[in-house]
Amino acid sequence: MKISIATVFDELYTPFLQTSLVKRAQERDFVSISTLNFFDCAEPKKRIDAPTFGPGSGMLIKPEVVACAVDTLEKKNGPAFKIFFSPQGKKLTQPLLKEIARKATEKGHLMLLPARYEGMDARVEKEYADEIVSVGDFVLMGGDIPAMMLLEGMLRFIPGVVGKQESVDADSFTGPFVDYPEFTEPVEWHGMKVPEVIRSGNHKAIDDWRSNEAAKKSVLSHFSWLKSYALTQEQKHKAAEHIPPHYVVLMHGDVLVGPDNRPGTTSLMSIDIHDIARSSSTYGIKNFFISTPLKDQQAVAQHFLSFWQKGSGIEYNKQRHSALNRVCVSNSLDEVVAEITKKEGKSPLLLATSARHVGGDKEISYYDQDRVWSEQRPVLIVLGTGSGLAPDVVDRCDYMLGPIQGFTDFNHLSVRSAAAAIFDRWLGINERYGKTLSVD
Ligand SMILES: C[S@@+](CC[C@H](N)C(=O)[O-])C[C@H]1O[C@@H](n2cnc3c(N)ncnc32)[C@H](O)[C@@H]1O
Repeated sequence: MKISIATVFDELYTPFLQTSLVKRAQERDFVSISTLNFFDCAEPKKRIDAPTFGPGSGMLIKPEVVACAVDTLEKKNGPAFKIFFSPQGKKLTQPLLKEIARKATEKGHLMLLPARYEGMDARVEKEYADEIVSVGDFVLMGGDIPAMMLLEGMLRFIPGVVGKQESVDADSFTGPFVDYPEFTEPVEWHGMKVPEVIRSGNHKAIDDWRSNEAAKKSVLSHFSWLKSYALTQEQKHKAAEHIPPHYVVLMHGDVLVGPDNRPGTTSLMSIDIHDIARSSSTYGIKNFFISTPLKDQQAVAQHFLSFWQKGSGIEYNKQRHSALNRVCVSNSLDEVVAEITKKEGKSPLLLATSARHVGGDKEISYYDQDRVWSEQRPVLIVLGTGSGLAPDVVDRCDYMLGPIQGFTDFNHLSVRSAAAAIFDRWLGINERYGKTLSVD
């Protein structure tokens, strides 16, 4: 494959192209890489950039300079798959790199066009770009480091460039799980020993240990990636082993009620019990507790549940029975916490929910699973009814999830709808990778 780079600073590429595996890839004729300076596309002593139109300062690379670079390089190396760089581009990921490697190989010529200054005239990307790539949500001074990053990542997918192609296939972000931890000599360093099992010579035990560690690391540190992957049933179960046990409680006591929002009690609704139970089953929540101090409300709940848990509901609808079988009725939050502690041998972290932002250190987002899960304790999601959880309950919670909201001012979700959204954001899979990803 031919690779050409049009840049303002071609001198940056000299050491890069003459070092390590990038150098070897060229020596072994897997790729041939050349650079073109944008200044070679301007008349001598003429500028390659011009000020942006409108208020605001900044210089942009002129469109005719980019056009000249594209024409020159395509005349030399043939039609190219052309990549521009921008912080606003498509995020560079392992699947995107793989796809770029495939498209570039097909075309036989990959052209990289990193910008400098404030970038390029917006029309050139429209005219030429097959892909616009960002290396992250931050702004660099230029696209040369991003171009080198893309090259390093993409070349690993060209067969022969790295020694063992199998190691590329097992790399982090190639599948749902990141790579497992690896160790070398000495066996003991700074008081830390290399795990016995991986020095045992038992290949099966080593494979099991590795896949277990990879799944654990992915759940605890890279959950956003993992949940965006199309998982097989086996991978799903493997990941689930490392998600701490989750429980949910629907508070009908210790909630704010009435026009002056005083702590009080609310009545339960069978539709909440049904729907939250089914959502709990879907997202692997072990038990759904209904907490009410009112004996008559407890009796109503027990009567309703007895049909599904012990009565003819079992045969009537087996799926519904299995969901409602995880529902328990409880007097108070204290009783729920005690029950989970008894079951798990550890007290649960309380994760409160609210329709409003409460602010402060306790408020976390739906991307903060690592913060909660690293504590290695069961998690109890606390849902309120009425006008929300009473201040005493909020105070005793360890974390508070921000509100579920849309791009409107309407803030009146039913608790069962909010519960489904909360579970999905916190524990749900939302496939993006692992299916066919196209850069077209
Ligand atoms: C100073 S930046 C221009 C940033 C632009 N004003 C914006 O906010 O989107 C100049 C050039 O650096 C490159 N660049 C900067 N940050 C980048 C990133 N995160 N990913 C890819 N390219 C980047 C791009 O080629 C960009 O046109």
